[in-house]
Amino acid sequence: MSLDTLIITDVAPRDGLQNQQIPVSTSAKLRLIQLLHEAGVTSIEATSFVSPKAVPQMADATELMGEINRHLPHLRASALIPNRKGLERAHAAGAREVAVVLSATQTMNQKNINMDLVTATKICEETLHAAQALGLRTRAYVAVAFDCPFEGPTNLDTVVALAERMHQAGAEEIVIADTIGSASPGMVKNHFERLASVLPIKKLAAHFHDTRGMATANAWAAIQAGVRRFDASAGGIGGCPFAPGAAGNAATEDLVLMAERSGLTTDISLPGLLKAVDYAESQLGRTLGGRSIAWLRRQYAADKTAS
Ligand code: COA
Ligand code: ZN
Repeated sequence: MSLDTLIITDVAPRDGLQNQQIPVSTSAKLRLIQLLHEAGVTSIEATSFVSPKAVPQMADATELMGEINRHLPHLRASALIPNRKGLERAHAAGAREVAVVLSATQTMNQKNINMDLVTATKICEETLHAAQALGLRTRAYVAVAFDCPFEGPTNLDTVVALAERMHQAGAEEIVIADTIGSASPGMVKNHFERLASVLPIKKLAAHFHDTRGMATANAWAAIQAGVRRFDASAGGIGGCPFAPGAAGNAATEDLVLMAERSGLTTDISLPGLLKAVDYAESQLGRTLGGRSIAWLRRQYAADKTAS
């Protein structure tokens, strides 16, 4: 990875769809993933192996992972897992990459995965070890890394300590997540400078939500701090059902446009991405898109008939 390349993991099929009320079929999810892949996205968070009672939209994780392996065997398709049962299900479904989810506050862990912070940390460590023993690639989220919807501002020392624990447990990528989209560029700079003082910057990824319209500015602050890995969601769809106030993710098209206009490459095609956004719109029945979408549509006149 050269320093002028951004690696974007598109999380639309997981973070994007998990909160949508309209059920999306497995074949439509696969089509969205195919369109993202055709646009040049090489890393996608495809689904989550969580309780179907907690997140009904992800109930088809096994079937979807099977379809991805059948149709897109070279795609880096990751799956979020909350516990060992999630790992077992993901492995049985043929997943080659998994992401554990640890929140940096007591209450958020409780609301999200029904564990206290100490237990969640231990379970994440054990799950990472078990996944690696199975030969899987691993990521670890540190969620609510800036603010918690229940506890307010998150203690940065805790974020750093948890990120270190996840690194020591072998996570190849540690995703620092602004789950409710409350961060600002100055906070991002401060967080990543502290994190980079104890962890290799190449292992850190930034995951922003655009609740306050700051996601692109935050991504730029992270880039300035040396971060080159980002999560983003085509069309900006996203939000956690367990984190009140969380709006859509940083839109992939916004990050790609920013990168292209700032001398960084992503190898992702904007017209290709627009096809994926149009397709997601057709499935969700509402207008989608990041801050740049109107300009991008005028510029590229995306093919509205993508199916
Ligand atoms: N996948 C599917 N089912 C699971 C599961 C998993 N990974 N983990 C547990 N379950 C099932 C159990 O088998 C049990 O089923 P049963 O009622 O039919 O016997 C039931 O869920 C309860 O199990 P338990 O271990 O007591 O879980 P819980 O009720 O404490 O819930 C989680 C814990 C982690 C399963 C649940 O909170 C969850 O899925 N959270 C995910 C939240 C999420 O996706 N957030 C957004 C992404 S960050
Ligand atoms: Zn998120």
